[in-house]
Amino acid sequence: MKKELGTIQALFPMPVLVIAAYDAKGTIQSMNAAWGQICDSDKIALFLDEDHATTKAIRETKAFTVALADRAHMAEADYVGIVSGNKVADKFARSGLHATKSALVNAPVIEEFPVTMECELAEVVQTETLFAIVGKIVGTVAEERVLDEKGKVDPGKLDAIAFDQFRHGYYAMGEKVGQAWNAGATLAKAALAAR
Ligand SMILES: Cc1cc2nc3c(=O)[nH]c(=O)nc-3n(C[C@H](O)[C@H](O)[C@H](O)COP(=O)(O)O)c2cc1C
Repeated sequence: MKKELGTIQALFPMPVLVIAAYDAKGTIQSMNAAWGQICDSDKIALFLDEDHATTKAIRETKAFTVALADRAHMAEADYVGIVSGNKVADKFARSGLHATKSALVNAPVIEEFPVTMECELAEVVQTETLFAIVGKIVGTVAEERVLDEKGKVDPGKLDAIAFDQFRHGYYAMGEKVGQAWNAGATLAKAALAAR
């Protein structure tokens, strides 16, 4: 029996992304964002409120980074989602996080997070129903400890957290249960053979 739940954001998992940018004065602005998604092989779209200090910083310096939050830094990731740089001038300094400038873009890479995409601002999409920051991913820095033997990020080593839009929980991720483009191969083979 299904129950109608109305207009809710029924996607799970949502990522826990920490977005960081320098503002025009060189101060680090950062925020937590769950509403973000890869939208092309080298692009990411973020759905950020226009008034956030981080959004303004991205528009000023035209670059930003996107880090995957892990369990060890859940408190810091949550903190940057609660407090605004519009109200607390030294918000990032008070987070306990540390950052260095990306070698590829004019944006800070937060040291504590294991994987960070380095992005140039590609486009600000503004329509009647949408405000999106689109970034071109020009590089990705990862801690060696989260890489597999082929140099790819191993989600099993990330200890990444996901956001639950239903009840606002954070969930640990990392258990592999199958291989994409393979788990359905038997069904696909049978369907193609039956044509
Ligand atoms: C789990 C979580 C997810 C969030 N996702 C988004 C989001 O996708 N877009 C957004 O505009 N704000 C989001 N926020 C709110 C901002 O992170 C928050 O308002 C932050 O204080 C903005 O900081 P700033 O003004 O210093 O940039 C989220 C907050 C939390 C805790």
